[in-house]
Amino acid sequence: MRMRKVPWAVEYLEKSQRLEKEPAKWKGKWHNRLHTKDLHVEIGCGKGQYSLDMAKMYPESGFIAIEKNESASGIAAKKFDEDPAEKKLALIVEDAADLGEWFKEGEVDVIHLNFSDPWPKKRYAKRRLSSDSFIRQYLQVLSDSGRIEMKTDNGALFEYSVLMFLDYGFRLKDFQVDFRKEEHPEDAITEYEAKFIEKGQPIYRAVFQKK
Ligand SMILES: C[S@@+](CC[C@H](N)C(=O)[O-])C[C@H]1O[C@@H](n2cnc3c(N)ncnc32)[C@H](O)[C@@H]1O
Repeated sequence: MRMRKVPWAVEYLEKSQRLEKEPAKWKGKWHNRLHTKDLHVEIGCGKGQYSLDMAKMYPESGFIAIEKNESASGIAAKKFDEDPAEKKLALIVEDAADLGEWFKEGEVDVIHLNFSDPWPKKRYAKRRLSSDSFIRQYLQVLSDSGRIEMKTDNGALFEYSVLMFLDYGFRLKDFQVDFRKEEHPEDAITEYEAKFIEKGQPIYRAVFQKK
C-alpha cells in the first residue's frame, strides 16, 4: 500500500524536536541521550503510533523509531512533538540498512519489526527486514539478552522470517498465529495492525531471543 504524499512533512521534519539528523553521532550514547536503562528500536515505524504508545506504557524505556518514508515520518514527528511522553522518543528518518553505523555493539535491548513490507518477489528479498544483511546487523547491535519482537499479517513473510532468525541462532521465545485472539495489554497496536484487526485477520507474532 503506497502512502499518499504529505505536503508539509519535509518542512515539518526540519524543525521537529524529535528528529535525529546525525544518528551516528549518538552511537554508544543513546542511553544517556534518552535517559533510559533499556533501549527499544522500531524499524519501519510508519506514522509512529506504536513507539509513541509503547513509550507511554513503559516510561522507563527509550524508543527510537526508524522510518525511511518522509510523509509517514513527518506525521510521526508531529505526533511525538505534541505528546508529553516525547522525552524518551527519537526519530531517525533513514533507511535502516545503515543501522550498524548508528548503534554500538550490544547497545540495543529490543528491536520491533511491525508489519514490515513483505517484498514477495525473490529479486527483492534483500529488502526484507529479516534478510541476511539486516539480521547480521541486529546480531551486532543487540545486547546478549536482546530480542526481536515481530508482528505481521503476512504468512509468507512470517514463515521466511522464523526460518531466517532460527538459522542465525536466535531462540524462539514466543510464537502466536492469532496474537490478538487474546487480550495483550502489554503490547500496543500499530496503525496497520488496527486495520487487520478490524477486518478480522489474524496477526502472526514471534519473539526471537539472541541467546
Ligand atoms: C507496511 S508499513 C507498516 C508501518 C507500521 N509499522 C505499522 O505497523 O503501522 C512498513 C513501513 O516500513 C518502512 N520501511 C520499510 N523498509 C524500511 C527500511 N529499510 N528502513 C526504514 N523504514 C523502512 C516503510 O517505509 C513503511 O512505512
